[in-house]
Amino acid sequence: MRPGSGDRGKNPVTQPRTGRARERVLTMHGIGKHFGAVRALVDVDFWVNEGEVVALVGDNGAGKSTLVKILAGVHTPDAGTIEFDGDAVTIPGPAHAQDLGIATVFQDLALCDNLDVVANLWLGRELVEGARLDEVDMEQRTWSLLRELSAKIPSVRIPVAALSGGQRQTVAIARSLVGDPRIVILDEPTAALGVAQTAEVLNLIERLRERGHGVVLVSHNMADVMAVADRVVVLRLGRNNGVYNVADVTSAMLIAAITGATDNAVTRRAAGDADAATRPIAARPRLAADPVGAPEPRVRAPGEAEIITLPGVRRRDRDEGRE
Ligand SMILES: Nc1ncnc2c1ncn2[C@@H]1O[C@H](COP(=O)(O)OP(=O)(O)OP(=O)(O)O)[C@@H](O)[C@H]1O
Ligand SMILES: [Mg+2]
Repeated sequence: MRPGSGDRGKNPVTQPRTGRARERVLTMHGIGKHFGAVRALVDVDFWVNEGEVVALVGDNGAGKSTLVKILAGVHTPDAGTIEFDGDAVTIPGPAHAQDLGIATVFQDLALCDNLDVVANLWLGRELVEGARLDEVDMEQRTWSLLRELSAKIPSVRIPVAALSGGQRQTVAIARSLVGDPRIVILDEPTAALGVAQTAEVLNLIERLRERGHGVVLVSHNMADVMAVADRVVVLRLGRNNGVYNVADVTSAMLIAAITGATDNAVTRRAAGDADAATRPIAARPRLAADPVGAPEPRVRAPGEAEIITLPGVRRRDRDEGRE
C-alpha cells in the first residue's frame, strides 16, 4: 500500500498530539495586501500556537478572508513576513500551503456531492494497493478519523448530497485532516447551520484542539467565538484592532472592537500600556487618532435598556422589530 499524491511521506492520519507543550506554529508579521486602490490588509500581525483555537473576527470587508487566503496560498502578500515552525517561509500556492501543513476549509466546502464520504475524504490522495484502490483501508481510516472526532455520520458509503449541513461540514473538516495539517482554517463553518448542527461543529472544533491542531476560526457569530476560542483577533478596515484572551473579554467588548466603538488594545499595548488588554474598554480614553470618530462611552441610568446597534441593520428594520 502506498499513499497517492499529496502525501508527505508519513501516515496521513496520525495520532493526536495531546500532552505536548504548546508551541508557536505560525507567526505573520506586518502583513500588507492591496487590490488596486483597496488596501485590504495593512501591517497585520497574527499568530497561532498548536492546540489553540484562534477566532478571526471583523466586519464585512475587514480583511479576514484576505488574511486566510494568504495562508492558503491563494494570495501573496505585498509586505510582511511569515514564519512557520520558526522558519521564514513564502506560500506561493495552495500546494505549498498543504505541504507546510496548513489546511483550509472554505465556506463552500468544495465537496463532490455525488461521491460518498470515503471518496470525498481521500480525493486526490487515494490509498492504492498495487494497481487498485485500497477501499478497505480508506474506509477503516475514515471510520477511525470520524470516531476520533466524535462525528455523527450514519454511513460512509452514502453520497454526501444525502447528508445534513452539519454532517457535510464535518466531512469537509475530516477531509482537511487527512494530510495531518498543523493548522486548520475554518471559514464561517457554522454560518449556514441550525442550533444542533452548530453545537456539533463546535464540538468538532474542541476535538481539533485536543488533537493538537492550531485552529483558525473565521466567524461573525460571537456566541460561537465565546464558546470555543482561546484567543480572539479583531480586524477592522484591514488593520489589527485588538487581540483578546477569551477569558478577559465579553461579546459586547468584541462587537465594540469590530465596529470601531473602542480604541485599540494592540496600539495601547505597543505604547507600553500593559493593562490595556484587561481593563474594561469603556474606561479607556479614546485615541486621538481614532479614524472613525467613536462615540463617547456613556453611563446608563439604572434600569435604562441598553441598545446595541449591529452593523448592517437598517434603522427602519430595528424600529419595526421593536413594534
Ligand atoms: N480579489 C479581490 N479583488 C479586489 N478586491 C478585493 C479582493 N478580495 C478582497 N477584496 C477587497 O479587500 C477588502 C477585504 O476583503 P475580505 O474579503 O478579506 O473581507 P472579509 O473580512 O473576509 O469580509 P466578509 O466578512 O464580507 O467575508 C474588501 O474591501 C474587499 O472588497
Ligand atoms: Mg470573507
